[in-house]
Amino acid sequence: MASEEGPISGIIGTSPQMQEVYRITRKVAASTATVLLTGETGTGKELIARALHELSPRATGPFVRVNCGALSESLLESELFGHIKGAFTSAFETRTGRFEAAHGGTIFLDEIGDLSLSGQAKLLRVLEEKVVVRVGGSLPIAIDTRVIAATNQDLAAMVSARRFREDLYFRLNVVTVEMPPLRERVDDIVLLAEHFLHDFAARARRKPPSLTPAAMKRLRQHHWPGNVRELRNLMERLAYLSAGDVIDVDELAFIISPRKEDLTAISMDMTLAEATRHFQIEYIRKHIGAADGNMTDAAKQLGVHRSNLYRKMHQLEMPVGDEDEEQDRDRDEWTWAGLAPTWPSREEGHSGCMSGFAGPWTNRSTSRDDPQQKWQAGGDGSPAQVTFSVPFFSRHERQDRQV
Ligand SMILES: Nc1ncnc2c1ncn2[C@@H]1O[C@H](COP(=O)(O)OP(=O)(O)OP(=O)(O)O)[C@@H](O)[C@H]1O
Ligand SMILES: [Mg+2]
Repeated sequence: MASEEGPISGIIGTSPQMQEVYRITRKVAASTATVLLTGETGTGKELIARALHELSPRATGPFVRVNCGALSESLLESELFGHIKGAFTSAFETRTGRFEAAHGGTIFLDEIGDLSLSGQAKLLRVLEEKVVVRVGGSLPIAIDTRVIAATNQDLAAMVSARRFREDLYFRLNVVTVEMPPLRERVDDIVLLAEHFLHDFAARARRKPPSLTPAAMKRLRQHHWPGNVRELRNLMERLAYLSAGDVIDVDELAFIISPRKEDLTAISMDMTLAEATRHFQIEYIRKHIGAADGNMTDAAKQLGVHRSNLYRKMHQLEMPVGDEDEEQDRDRDEWTWAGLAPTWPSREEGHSGCMSGFAGPWTNRSTSRDDPQQKWQAGGDGSPAQVTFSVPFFSRHERQDRQV
């Protein structure tokens, strides 16, 4: 039996606002009452929707999420209620809809504010009558489905503007759970940050870095327009990009306060060399931030090869993720795809070996000095099967070369 007090499993936060969310969630989970989850983007509405299902007697039944924003007008009815064979040109088979699929469980109508007015009318009928009729059919099918809806829009304002039906609004918000924005529960920020850092550090197979008091203060001051999702993404980047055991405030600045770390922050008492170094650091950081931490994309935008970007960052004494780990991640991807490459070294040159595919492998690079060597399977004149690129120089060799 789950604890009746404190956070719900998998949901982080001990602030009074979240305690209230846990209290209402536990209280209504057992019932079949329709719940409307509101709150800004990234505040955890989907997490609570799943918790409502998992804490309910329907937990063993299905949980079906429908993104109402992704349903086109023509698809909506058939997607939600199903169709019978021949109902329309492409209806080759009879199909059950999402409401039927959620029978005995929960249907989560996400982004409900995006539903068209005609979609709203059809949904209202189902909620009132508790039956669906498949498109092209006439037989009413009884459904026993608990309804949870979510939106980050102001539905009450949409009702006033006649963009959302008032009768559907009242039917949906039997119980409303308002998810508090992260900036209004500052005590949860560090708790969440440390939780995500531990989680992503484990995935990156490294020791979780700790936050300095100044870094914690900075996190607490941020406005968090993207709420928990923004914090999670930031911690993911740090877990991969920061190299040290501690994360200090300067490592947060470029991501969460781009304005403060403006390139104009170069002061007049710097030497030309200092100003140039400062500019380069900021410029590289901005590109890594804009590429969501993807070093290959950042390097592409900067017009340099990824290995050169790493070398430049070493030169500027910027924190970089472990390149061997990066390679490990690449290797994981290959293994996942059924390949296990052994990286060719300079010595192996054109006869570099790649396990996973039967050889022979041929190096198709135009120059031996190209740091991105292209390898092709079946290079003995038989039709090419696969071409892909791997770094040619080892990490140490690359460090010897100049940008
Ligand atoms: N309290 C929390 N504890 C742990 N993780 C959380 C918490 N709140 C949100 N998250 C995580 O943050 C991310 C965003 O949460 P979620 O998708 O539930 O937000 P949402 O309110 O549905 O956002 P949107 O309106 O953009 O759909 C998810 O990865 C989720 O797991
Ligand atoms: Mg959501």
